[in-house]
Amino acid sequence: MQLERPEIIDLLKFHIDADCADVLDDMPVNHFAAPVAPAAAAHEPMPHPGLQETATPLAPPASAVTPAFVAAQVTPSATQTGAAIDSATLAQNAKTLDELAAALESFDGCGLKKTAKSTVFSDGVSTARVMLVGEAPGQDEDRTGKPFVGRSGQLLDAMMGTIGLSRTGNLYIANVIAWRPPGNRAPSVDELEICKPFILRQIELAAPEIIVLVGGTSAKTLLDTETGITRLRGKWQTLEIGGRTIPALPFFHPAYVLRRPETKADVWADLCALKQKLDAAS
Ligand code: URA
Repeated sequence: MQLERPEIIDLLKFHIDADCADVLDDMPVNHFAAPVAPAAAAHEPMPHPGLQETATPLAPPASAVTPAFVAAQVTPSATQTGAAIDSATLAQNAKTLDELAAALESFDGCGLKKTAKSTVFSDGVSTARVMLVGEAPGQDEDRTGKPFVGRSGQLLDAMMGTIGLSRTGNLYIANVIAWRPPGNRAPSVDELEICKPFILRQIELAAPEIIVLVGGTSAKTLLDTETGITRLRGKWQTLEIGGRTIPALPFFHPAYVLRRPETKADVWADLCALKQKLDAAS
C-alpha cells in the first residue's frame, strides 16, 4: 500500500498513542551485517535504514534479498574483532571522562548504536565515592540520555536513598553498555566484549572507592565470571582496575526486584553492607 506523507504521520501518531516503543521490520535485521543494497521494485516496502546507509552500486534483484542472502553478507568476526581493538585503543586514549564520553559518541564499532537514539554515558557526581554500574539503557534512558531514569531507576534511587546516597549528591552511575539494545533484549557476548574497555576506562577515570554491580550482566562482565547474581549478591568482590583494587558489591537489578518483591529482604541486607563499608572507610 502506497501511503502519502500525511497518512504516514497519522500512522506514526497512532503508533505513539498505542505505546509502540520500537519500530520493527517484518523480517529480522542483522545490524552487524555488511550493508546490502535495497532492491529496486515497484512495490518495495520502505528500505530499512540499516540497509539504506551504504548501498552498493550492484543491487541484487528484489527476489534475491532473502534472509539467507542478508546472512551471507555478514562477516561478524572481522567487524567485531576490529571493533574490539578500536574500543580498547579509543578508551585508553581518553584522558578525562569528557574525552571518554566524546570517544564513545564517535565510536561506530558496536551495532547497538545504529538503533539507539542516545549514547547513555553517565549521571550523578563523577567524583563520588560510590559508582553504580548497570547493564544497558532501556527505553526511558535512550529517550533522555541518562542511565536508570525509568521505573527500575526510580526504585534504585529509592533504595540508595535509604542509606543517604543520591545521584544529585554522592553517586556516580553508568552502564556496561551505553546503547539501548533494540526491544530491550539482553546485550550479546560480543556487544559486551566490544564495550567493556569503555566501562573499565570510565571506572579508572572516575576512580570510585566502591563499585556496586547492579544486576547479573554487570557483575558477570566486570568480574569475568559465569556465576549468577543470586549467588554473587551481597558478597564483596574486588576489581583490579588502573592499578587500584576496588571493592565491588554485586547487587540485585531493580527490574528483578520489581518482578520479585520477595528479594527486598536481601536488598536491604546488601544496602546495609554497603553503608557499613562506606562508614568503615570514611
Ligand atoms: N537498566 C540498566 O541496567 N541500566 C539502565 O540505565 C536502565 C535500566
